[in-house]
Amino acid sequence: MTMYDVVNYVDCPRERQLEILSLRNREEIRQWMTHPEPISEEDHFRFVERLKEDGDRLYYAVYKDGALVGTYNLTRGEDGVWERGIIAAPETQGRGETLRWERQILSTLPGRGIKALSAKVKPDNLRSVRYHAKLGFREQSRDGEYIHYLLRLP
Ligand SMILES: CC(C)(COP(=O)(O)OP(=O)(O)OC[C@H]1O[C@@H](n2cnc3c(N)ncnc32)[C@H](O)[C@@H]1OP(=O)(O)O)[C@@H](O)C(=O)NCCC(=O)NCCS
Repeated sequence: MTMYDVVNYVDCPRERQLEILSLRNREEIRQWMTHPEPISEEDHFRFVERLKEDGDRLYYAVYKDGALVGTYNLTRGEDGVWERGIIAAPETQGRGETLRWERQILSTLPGRGIKALSAKVKPDNLRSVRYHAKLGFREQSRDGEYIHYLLRLP
């Protein structure tokens, strides 16, 4: 059953863009990002313009009953493996809600030629480490900064 609306950034109006940006810029979110600095409105809108021309980068906002519950992004890699990033709105975290909406998205990916997802997580992001294990991501390697995971899709 589809419970969540998954909307490409390029189809989100300005108001929704600003809500997405403000989620991304929250301190408790950006501390875990590869680029932890806040993103300006100007940079965000420029980024979304570029997404319109780029089939290798898919960015989605996820809504439940019209409320933003998170964002999800996929970047094409080699051999049907895409790197995925995820942010859950802090108010919705820790209740199994994120697992539900990510599983809804995962069920749509094999039909789109996506065979596996990679992810990288900072080892001190314990909530995220537990989350990836719960979803079935397997650790592939570690470097100085990240644990690298892979999830093979059925
Ligand atoms: C990492 C992240 C996406 C995980 O999302 P989340 O909302 O915390 O995850 P969920 O609540 O869906 O799932 C896990 C928790 O829900 C609990 N849970 C699972 N099913 C449940 C249910 N039916 N009812 C209640 N709780 C449930 C689990 O016990 C688990 O809790 P635990 O981690 O204490 O063991 C989120 O914390 C986040 O956005 N963090 C900030 C940004 C970030 O770090 N992104 C990832 C970068 S790699």
